[in-house]
Amino acid sequence: MENKAISILKYNNQEHIIEILEKMNLERRENLINQILGVNFKEVNNLYNELKNGYKENINTIEPIKYVEKNKLLLEEKNEYDSIGSDVIKNNKLAVITMAGGQGTRLGHKGPKGTYMLNLEDIFGKEVSIFEVLAQNFIKAKSEYNVDINWYIMTSNGNKRETVKFFEDNNYFNLNKNNIKFFVQNDIPVIDENGKVIIGKDYLIKTASNGNGGIYEVLKEQNILKDMKDKGIEWVFVSGVDNILVNPIDSIFVGLTIKNGDMIAAKTVKKVDANEKTGVYCKKNGKIGVIEYNEISDELRNAKDENGDLLYSQSNIISHLYNIKALDLLTDVDLRYHRAHKKVPYIDNNLQEVIPTEPNIYKFEKFIFDAFENFDNISILSVNKEEEFAPIKNAEGNDSPETAMKLYTNFLNKHI
Ligand code: UD1
Repeated sequence: MENKAISILKYNNQEHIIEILEKMNLERRENLINQILGVNFKEVNNLYNELKNGYKENINTIEPIKYVEKNKLLLEEKNEYDSIGSDVIKNNKLAVITMAGGQGTRLGHKGPKGTYMLNLEDIFGKEVSIFEVLAQNFIKAKSEYNVDINWYIMTSNGNKRETVKFFEDNNYFNLNKNNIKFFVQNDIPVIDENGKVIIGKDYLIKTASNGNGGIYEVLKEQNILKDMKDKGIEWVFVSGVDNILVNPIDSIFVGLTIKNGDMIAAKTVKKVDANEKTGVYCKKNGKIGVIEYNEISDELRNAKDENGDLLYSQSNIISHLYNIKALDLLTDVDLRYHRAHKKVPYIDNNLQEVIPTEPNIYKFEKFIFDAFENFDNISILSVNKEEEFAPIKNAEGNDSPETAMKLYTNFLNKHI
């Protein structure tokens, strides 16, 4: 085993790890060797080559995308969509996936983001976790439609155990445990400027979740799609874990998508300030896409239409809907990796921890919305931020627990 690991390291230009391996105690050495045998170094090397050569996305044309505003729908349209969508929900053909595999670094919470506690005593009479707030959507659906909606939760390798335990300790928030399933996304090593993997404080190669676009491959690998099909599920709503006002079981959204004959759909909110940290929907080279907030040019970010409104105004709130056949197709699609330059501590050749002062590694992430370019059409429903988007990203300031709780409380006070 050790010899095999050493030849893998040599073959992939990662000899520096051999030196570290030799200095480790037996137990740590065995753990690291096991890990090395499972790392996809071919992928790592491809990413390094791309990094060296400078990936450039060829965007020849870029245009705004068409969307429908929820609060401008006519009453008869609303009723029609509601009736189509309610039928799907009542018959338990809609499932929900919450992607909870991110690291939540900006929030600074140790542990899975969904376990972060919010002081919502006015509403719940106690502090509640983000997961418990999300669980309310399923409790509401049960009382409205008399159905136990299937809830799938994507975790990372690192936070799966803690996430499952949290659900168990909290009695699955009184939902039917049989309708809740967890699955794990894949990891990928981070690399330094020279394409070398690094060792973390746990004496293992430092890896990170491969981005929320990693969802498609694991739906197949872990038989989640099969499970859905066995249950007769036809539509799947996917969102992040950090929007406490997410509205996943929305008959109008489902009905609109079906009426349009589309396989995929997304909700957006209108961006009012060009500097909001949200990706925006658009058409890139004639195809459906999102330009992420850290990749958009200043010119596009600030572009205005003839009324002085932002031209690229439809913010991605990660509220996506897929027909199960669309997910089937996407499990085989290879999404590209985006990269981020980050500061990550590591163990040097003398087993000493180094805390970098400048970004020292590249982290690679697939983006879930990059898959949309495989479809000709998408239904985009623009909704009110006050009703459906209360993100928790940062510890303080914008998009923090404080701003999200305020939005949540205001919404509930209006709608109870
Ligand atoms: C994301 C969107 C951005 C959008 C914004 C709105 C992506 C790539 N970007 O940005 O366009 O405007 O939210 O709030 O979707 N996650 C995983 N596994 C991972 C990485 C992330 O499950 O490997 C989950 C996170 O737990 C979170 C969600 O995906 O629920 C968003 O991830 P994050 O990386 O925080 O994206 P943002 O930068 O907030």
